[in-house]
Amino acid sequence: MQAVELLRRRLGDPPSLAVVLGSGVTLEGDEKSALNYEVIPGMPVSDVTGHSGVLKILEIENQQIAVMAGRKHLYEGATLEEVTFATRMLAAWGVMQLILTNAAGGLSEDLEVGDLMLINGTIDLLPSTDGKGTLPALIQGPVSRSNKWLPQVRSPEVKSGTYAAVLGPNYETRAEVSLLLHAGADAVGMSTVPELLAADRTGMDAAGLSVITNSWAKPITFHGHQAVVKAATEASVKLQRFIQSFLAGKE
Ligand code: HPA
Repeated sequence: MQAVELLRRRLGDPPSLAVVLGSGVTLEGDEKSALNYEVIPGMPVSDVTGHSGVLKILEIENQQIAVMAGRKHLYEGATLEEVTFATRMLAAWGVMQLILTNAAGGLSEDLEVGDLMLINGTIDLLPSTDGKGTLPALIQGPVSRSNKWLPQVRSPEVKSGTYAAVLGPNYETRAEVSLLLHAGADAVGMSTVPELLAADRTGMDAAGLSVITNSWAKPITFHGHQAVVKAATEASVKLQRFIQSFLAGKE
């Protein structure tokens, strides 16, 4: 993979952990190096606000981690191959652990705006094949396989629940909210499940973490993507603490 050669040349050895940031989600650390997605061969760039498109090596708690700000979505017209490119590239580089964050709408009354929810179950409502074999056919669902790593990622500050992945790009109608709730979903978003599947195929430890940016449980007006990005940025303080304590626990 040409992309991996570039990462090795420009960033060196892989860190053990990588974090993918969803819409508006941020993570701070001592920046060691950075690469724009544009210069990485094959790396798709998202056009959506809140997805800056940069791969950084950050030092947090004396450990270097790779942070990928931005991902391409199926609703942008991308293929599954493009959507899972970063996951496969990180695995080929040698990254062993992956935390996939996303901005998600809370469906369950137990979730408040600003909460973090570790994904311990998924409902995949995305188109599931691109005919190119990018994702494994006829295997166990992603979360049942990745769940083995979840106990090590869990933290008291983080809730857990089922994430439903929908294509979007529109947010849900009231009727869809009701459908998803009946189906057992706690949160809804437009990403992450293909990346969890792709990560499983590589043997990496992977976990999905939703930042709840809006709640469908309460009858409030929802202000769309701008509000999602703003709420995600605000909730990033919690993500920062979560990643710091995760890294501190690894030492
Ligand atoms: N629905 C789908 N995707 C989302 C939402 C939502 O309510 N919030 C953030 N991403």
